[in-house]
Amino acid sequence: MPEYTVEDVLVKLEALFISDASVCTTDLASDLQLEHQKVVGFMKSIQAAGDYISATDRVKVDVTLKPEGEGIAKNGSHEFVFWSNVPEEGITQGDAMKNIPNAKLGMGKALAAKWISKNKEDGKIYRAVKETPEDTIGNICKKVAAGQPLEAKELADAKKRKLVDEKKLTVFDLKKSAGFKTTVEKPETELTKELLANDAWKSKTFKEYNYNATGVRPPHGFLHPLLKLRSAYRNIFLEMGFEEMPTSNFVESSFWNFDALFQPQQHPARDAHDTFFLSEPASALNDPPADYLERVKNIHSHGGFDSKGYGYDWSKEEAMKNVLRTHTTAVSAKMLYKLAQQKEFKPTKYFSIDRVFRNETLDNTHLAEFHQVEGLIADYNVSLADLIGVLHTFFKKLGIEKLKFKPAYNPYTEPSMEIFSYHEGLKKWTEIGNSGMFRPEMLRPMGLPENVSVIAWGLSLERPAMIKYKMNNIRELCGYKYDLRNGQNASICRVDFERLRKTCPVRARFGDLSRQTNLRKLNSWLSERSYLVDDVATKLDVQAHAHVQPELVDNYAHVARWWNHIATYKGEYEFLPDGKF
Ligand code: PHE
Repeated sequence: MPEYTVEDVLVKLEALFISDASVCTTDLASDLQLEHQKVVGFMKSIQAAGDYISATDRVKVDVTLKPEGEGIAKNGSHEFVFWSNVPEEGITQGDAMKNIPNAKLGMGKALAAKWISKNKEDGKIYRAVKETPEDTIGNICKKVAAGQPLEAKELADAKKRKLVDEKKLTVFDLKKSAGFKTTVEKPETELTKELLANDAWKSKTFKEYNYNATGVRPPHGFLHPLLKLRSAYRNIFLEMGFEEMPTSNFVESSFWNFDALFQPQQHPARDAHDTFFLSEPASALNDPPADYLERVKNIHSHGGFDSKGYGYDWSKEEAMKNVLRTHTTAVSAKMLYKLAQQKEFKPTKYFSIDRVFRNETLDNTHLAEFHQVEGLIADYNVSLADLIGVLHTFFKKLGIEKLKFKPAYNPYTEPSMEIFSYHEGLKKWTEIGNSGMFRPEMLRPMGLPENVSVIAWGLSLERPAMIKYKMNNIRELCGYKYDLRNGQNASICRVDFERLRKTCPVRARFGDLSRQTNLRKLNSWLSERSYLVDDVATKLDVQAHAHVQPELVDNYAHVARWWNHIATYKGEYEFLPDGKF
């Protein structure tokens, strides 16, 4: 296909405009030997370049020959070919069928048109008309081949015999406009200082404003995935009525980081191998309140408040050493002390999410700084049961529903529990946090009433982020190896819950089975089945079993039968086949 410029097309148009006031795009297309579509493209470019032409559209029916029609255009209709091949002395049907192309169709049509006839005596076929008959169908096809328009009846005939295709095409009649010329100037897009200074703007054409253009995206920053996750955690805490603690100072005295938390001064965590000590200023500039300091000193050295203490010589000098805080619990301690100083104790829920520092050997999962998420509730007689309940609520909001707790040790909590969650992807229990009830040795010296207890928990921000963003090296998340494009692509983090929904086939099938409506669905599903799928118990049964609340089971006969049966597989769960809906 020839290549043209807009100006080539304008030259062609100019020539056509000499004889015709209006030029149809189909004519232009055949003149230029271009597809009609391309010509329409040129038309649009010309229109965009200025007031060169006007265009009016109309629908044109484009008729083209099918292969059979093409043959007829060349050779005449089948009946015409048949008639032409009947010799003066007639032809037997057998010979005709053998020698004349499309004889069967041609003979039928020629007989119907009475161009030929069959002699009953000799059984042969003879010409009934001697003069060459007018081949209407052949002529119609010839007309189409020559690009001539058809009469309505002709078109109907050709369509009836399925010889043509009909396509509707929007064509344009082009007329010369006032600004017609055969050259195009690129219109100016900006009114510049130069154009103004030498009056050149007067003779220039300017590109019209396109008010529908999307415009250039302004450059902007992206939130780091950790910040996105932080705001997800923050929202959860806020939804649960927690207040955020001020955590903006990274430097703390050992006093708030360790001593206030009843962490003995010989504790290994207070070694320079684990903690960054400051060299300048090496000691805290402000003393903690003197009376409180005294009480902390006492509880470490000789005990008190029903505690025996550690029985060592507590040193203020050691307590005043500045450190980069090793946990945000340092801030919790400060805030609880403040709370204890209020005239009347007010139950309080606090949280913080911020950076902490540890002198760690760096590896794929450890950095010298990371973020901690921490929550605490101070109230009258809160208990371990409350802690477990709150943790379930908190993690459920993150999409984590299966939790287990393992007894652990922290100098400042008793009892202490490590928190494990079942990782559906890894198919194993993984540690996700630490928790406990703050010891009276920590709370009582602060001045909190005896019947006030404090439950608290902490977790890192990086670990769930790595799981969520499928990273196995923490350095891809923090530090110079972090790929800035991650910020653009990382989704907002609340989707975990959705993911759980999607990855848990039972949930996807029946919804949340702790709800009666969904249980009813399960009941009718089980009304004609022994198991969720197939004829054997599968892991799907086990999953569904775990989701159903035992106290609701008896309301649904089929669920109850199935539930009791699946319970008998206990101990074999992991050996059951996976199963698929
Ligand atoms: N501070 C603990 C840590 O560094 C976490 C924690 C917070 C534990 C609150 C118990 C209570 O891991």
